[in-house]
Amino acid sequence: MCGIFGYVGNRQATPLLMEGLRRLEYRGYDSSGVAVINGQIEVAKKIGKVSELASMIPTGIEGNIGISHTRWATHGGVTDENAHPHISNQSNVAIVHNGIIENARQLRPRLEKQGVKFLSETDSEVLVHLIAHYLDLGSTPLSSVRRALHRVRGTWGLCVVFEGEDIIICARNGSPLVIGIGEGESFIASDQHALTQYTDRAIFLEDGEIAVVSAGKVQMHLLSGGRAAQNITTLEEDWGEADLGEFPHFMLKEIHEQPEALRQCISGRTLSSEGNCKLGGLELSSKELQKIPHVRLLGCGTSLHACQVGRLAIEKLARVPASAHVASEFRHNDPIIDPKALFLAVSQSGETADTLSAVKEIQLKGGKVRGVVNVVGSTIARQCGRGVYIHSGPEQAVASTKAFTNMTAALVMFSIQIGRARSLTRNRGRDLVKNLNAIPDQLEAYLANPGPIMEAVKAVKEAKMVLFLGRGVSAPVAREGALKLMEVAYIPCLAYPAAEMKHGPIALLEPGSPVVVIAPNDELKEKTRSNIQECRARGAKIILIHEEGDDIAEEADISISVPITTPLLSPLLTVVPLQLLAYNTALELDCDVDRPRNLAKSVTVE
Ligand code: G6P
Repeated sequence: MCGIFGYVGNRQATPLLMEGLRRLEYRGYDSSGVAVINGQIEVAKKIGKVSELASMIPTGIEGNIGISHTRWATHGGVTDENAHPHISNQSNVAIVHNGIIENARQLRPRLEKQGVKFLSETDSEVLVHLIAHYLDLGSTPLSSVRRALHRVRGTWGLCVVFEGEDIIICARNGSPLVIGIGEGESFIASDQHALTQYTDRAIFLEDGEIAVVSAGKVQMHLLSGGRAAQNITTLEEDWGEADLGEFPHFMLKEIHEQPEALRQCISGRTLSSEGNCKLGGLELSSKELQKIPHVRLLGCGTSLHACQVGRLAIEKLARVPASAHVASEFRHNDPIIDPKALFLAVSQSGETADTLSAVKEIQLKGGKVRGVVNVVGSTIARQCGRGVYIHSGPEQAVASTKAFTNMTAALVMFSIQIGRARSLTRNRGRDLVKNLNAIPDQLEAYLANPGPIMEAVKAVKEAKMVLFLGRGVSAPVAREGALKLMEVAYIPCLAYPAAEMKHGPIALLEPGSPVVVIAPNDELKEKTRSNIQECRARGAKIILIHEEGDDIAEEADISISVPITTPLLSPLLTVVPLQLLAYNTALELDCDVDRPRNLAKSVTVE
């Protein structure tokens, strides 16, 4: 989603800004722009790819201070005018902003009455005019930003530059910003990934902070007044630039990275002889695990689906009530927070605004949240303090794949750990741990021979709608399969618990309608078989994901088999053919697999 990169130092800013934007591209965006100061402020912005912006300014705009932005439209359509930076009417202030100004609609007419001419439909533009207004009244740049921010309601991660000033002012409220401090130069980014090639010394802005950034120096202030502490952190991990290697797309590369990523996630965390797992970062002793009355998991998108598998595993192995929540709904429903319950916030990016708000709501009401996160040092990881890193490595394709398998594995390991502290026997634990350790090799074997995926692609690529069905742990896998196909191939998809299909979606079935069924060899398989027959009776074409050698294959029109595992771990295998189905269908339909339209990798607005 929206990304920010800024530079102040001795080098030419434009090439650095372009490189910064390129590093933020994976988050998803629809337009981009830069503002560079060379005495006066020069702005270039454009809809489309960063490369198109770069070709618009082939010789660069001269200057050593600049800010830049990738925009993912919220308020106002995808137009050059709505792209950031926004500039004041006297061209003396420019701003890039992530987040949403909730009272922009009220402020706009007031500013217009004062003679301001708006050039875009965005909520962000009010900020630049408010800041310019206070500058006109004689305030300093810092005080103008402060006064403007006191007038607005909403969320922001923003950078402001001023004509004739050698500084960038940044502020944060709910939308991340990191300042990287180099030798005689400073960098600002909404994502530490864009900074690590320049410096490992960084300041993560906290909500309510304002920073005045100059070349190699930072002054920290509070929005409420006075100075703030300057906490310099060492950026821990540099994933570097993930390159495609032998793969044509990141999505395919990441699907194939799953065996190795899963090894990273489980390595050192399973205790084979004790039939147990140890997620040290949770900092929960067996005694504490015994006392937890309720586990509540939260996430969005793919992470939510991992939560849904995790909650079933926790209930099954630990016999403790567990629920999975749509994070975007959570805080708005005035949730009851039991301080003794355990909350787990699950997120690949660690930046999803909805998940972050849910975390804050829980903490505000006295609850404790642990993070289950991929990106080290991300906002959710830091907000939770304790938790589990899933160690997937960089995930660049918008459609999440290897993060799903690792989140699911992390939650299954947690369910074994809490299970062993409560009711799970050592033998059962040993069996689960043994099966879990075998999955990376099984994934490799499956990926080497994925079965008739292209036949399945043929069955779905022209469908009006594809129905995905599964029961138990396969119900979230069905949802994940539907999400993948919808995200990258733009085919309307429905996912239902298999039996619930009779209560609605069955009305959609016509001869030839593709139905994808996930039916591992578990205690629910025979029930699912009945649901398959109900679909077949209406002429549906069944694409069946099942375990090798299972006789349920006879129900399939297209049968795709995965290696055999214990039922609870089956999502780690059954999801992979669904990822491949989505990927290959998108290719057949000529879709931009890694950057699907309208979607963003990191959704930093609520
Ligand atoms: C976006 C991405 C999805 C992702 C979801 C949650 O919608 O496109 O792939 O599952 O956000 O993201 P998170 O980073 O919190 O896991």
